[in-house]
Amino acid sequence: MLVQSDLEAFARRIKSDVFARLSKVIDPELGRPITDLGMITDILVEPATEGPAQIGGPDLPVFDVTIYVELTIEGCPLTRAIADRIDAAVSSYTKAILRPHQEVSSMSADKLQSLVDQLKAERRSNPFTKAGSKTRIFAIASGKGGVGKSSVSANLAATFAALGYDTAAIDADIYGFSLPGLFGVHSQPTNLNGMLMPVTAWGVKLISIGMFAGSERAILWRGPRLQRSLEQFLTDVWWGEPDVLILDLAPGTGDMAISVAQALPNAELVVVTTPQPSASDVAVRSGLVALQVPIRVRGVVENMAWYEHEGERLRIFGQGGGRRVADRLTGDLGYEVPLLAQLPLETDLREAGESGRPVVLGEDGKLAPTPMATAFKALAHRLIA
Ligand SMILES: Nc1ncnc2c1ncn2[C@@H]1O[C@H](COP(=O)(O)OP(=O)(O)O)[C@@H](O)[C@H]1O
Ligand SMILES: [Mg+2]
Repeated sequence: MLVQSDLEAFARRIKSDVFARLSKVIDPELGRPITDLGMITDILVEPATEGPAQIGGPDLPVFDVTIYVELTIEGCPLTRAIADRIDAAVSSYTKAILRPHQEVSSMSADKLQSLVDQLKAERRSNPFTKAGSKTRIFAIASGKGGVGKSSVSANLAATFAALGYDTAAIDADIYGFSLPGLFGVHSQPTNLNGMLMPVTAWGVKLISIGMFAGSERAILWRGPRLQRSLEQFLTDVWWGEPDVLILDLAPGTGDMAISVAQALPNAELVVVTTPQPSASDVAVRSGLVALQVPIRVRGVVENMAWYEHEGERLRIFGQGGGRRVADRLTGDLGYEVPLLAQLPLETDLREAGESGRPVVLGEDGKLAPTPMATAFKALAHRLIA
């Protein structure tokens, strides 16, 4: 049995041990230890006066540990996750039995503002142009709409995430946004004093203009639109440091790629086309933007290449479009632009898209054992190589 003064010394020791353990608890949105973020304001350690005093055997004393937690924002969607991590960090202590309790409140407006200011200052504007940024950026482009650019963006992002890459995606098609629907996102990004948290769905951190309600959309998107929207997505959203960033670009052959090249000099353009000549001609033009702005064309994806019916590949939209685009870009740009993948027409893709789950994933969020998922996995591996 410990005497009173021993107990007090032990309690002080536990307090600092608990703090050390909490410094390993990472805020899931900000990606920083909760102690660094000022979220732990006090820890109270008291010898237990009641309850199952000796559950751990005769040698381990029991303490009640109260953690005072200040959340960045009330009703934050990840409150539960943070609380669970804190409990786990406390109750897994081995030198005593600790019973965790949490007193949860939210930060004062001033404290939150200075935290956001500090984070923004550290990050300084667009994080992806920093020297040494490890993020690979793939901008998915096509001359015209309806060729499957968003489907490719969504499934590619979901594939990277399922393969274990920290993956983010930006819906840069602000007039024809479709990523929220394809990922089944109905929630809004958390707004921390002007810094937005992306919404995570199917393992991908996402942002889309479609996540904002009408009036907010207008407030957020003032000024010369396309260009500013991408910049705002890059600078006002807290991205952390993802391995992969996918951009679903607006259709067109110029403006969008120019703003991408300006904002993200490391971005690699992936041109999506369908097999018929009318689509492949515009796709070539969307790739030739690389003659005007410094952006590298990484390769071509041919979508809706065939429809498999009773073991036969029916070329519903003709054939050769992907090859044609790759060859012409290779010729005009003076470096190899490969045909990276040919994706079949699959009715499942459209149906899954409407259900809010990228078709490459099963209900469990893992890559499905299907030809489509296999094709996307191969595409992801080729891109990242
Ligand atoms: N490989 C495919 N198989 C079947 N349907 C597809 C395929 N690719 C795209 N689609 C469907 O075609 C439509 C247009 O695709 P989308 O990805 O929105 O194109 P974009 O972004 O280029 O406008 C959607 O309804 C989508 O579900
Ligand atoms: Mg689209």
